[in-house]
Amino acid sequence: MTVVYLNGQFLPEDQAHISPLDRGFLFGDSVYEVIRAYRGTPFRLDEHFARLAYSLGEMRIGAYLSPLKEVPARLVAENGLEGKDALVYLQVTRGAAPRSHAFPPPDVKATIFGMAWAFTPNPAWRDPGVSVILVPDFRWSRCDIKVTSLIGNVLAHQRAVDAGAHEALLVRDGAVLEGTLSSLFAVFEGEVRTAPLSNYILPSITRSVTLELCRAGDIPVREAPIYDHEVPQAEELFIASTTHELSPVCAVGDRPLPPERPVTEKLQRLFREAVERECA
Ligand code: PDD
Repeated sequence: MTVVYLNGQFLPEDQAHISPLDRGFLFGDSVYEVIRAYRGTPFRLDEHFARLAYSLGEMRIGAYLSPLKEVPARLVAENGLEGKDALVYLQVTRGAAPRSHAFPPPDVKATIFGMAWAFTPNPAWRDPGVSVILVPDFRWSRCDIKVTSLIGNVLAHQRAVDAGAHEALLVRDGAVLEGTLSSLFAVFEGEVRTAPLSNYILPSITRSVTLELCRAGDIPVREAPIYDHEVPQAEELFIASTTHELSPVCAVGDRPLPPERPVTEKLQRLFREAVERECA
């Protein structure tokens, strides 16, 4: 029987329950360490805990680490791994809360999970050694896949919340691509513009409906980059998503946008009409 650690308790694995609302599950909103134990003794424990503290600090996840330092050795013991080689895994998530990109209230406790298992590296990793290939480093760049590893979105969204804003628009190499949970549209001289599909944006359903409505409603539209230096010249900006439908942007930072938004309002009307038609 495997014994794991969960939130202060050592208990059989099948009795360790984590809420499906846990942000580790919903957003990948968590950090972890893998620690080697040689002959049952955790190796470089202080370094692993220093890195864990750093990761938690960068993520602004509050968890009290001092008592946790006993957990790896205790997991080794509870699982009969004393004197043996093992791996210890520790994971700390931002806890369970109703799904929202913004951080939950501070009283939501981190979820802390640990497990250990016997481990012997494959001797072939030393001799003959390991074969490798080269791949482009696309980590954090496959924004076109609707993955739940949303920690980049969560951290950017929280910056908006901290600044008293509703959404953060993501800029890469000068191009304003989309929001953390929405697509972005701008209107320049009456023409609607949104970033072209690429690996850097989600192929949003609401985005494609909006493009369709522009074309059907004779509203000039173009899929082309919106550059950050152009944003102050936009007559209108709006975000689009399943949750927002089309929401006008009323301010970018401290700068308000004009309250007249004829193009956005026309598209909002067309959107509602499409909903009425399709979901009678
Ligand atoms: N977010 N871009 C990003 C990064 C998104 O997460 C979303 C949706 C969109 C809009 O996609 P759609 O029109 O298909 O909803 C664009 C959802 C609503 C969310 O995570 O809550």
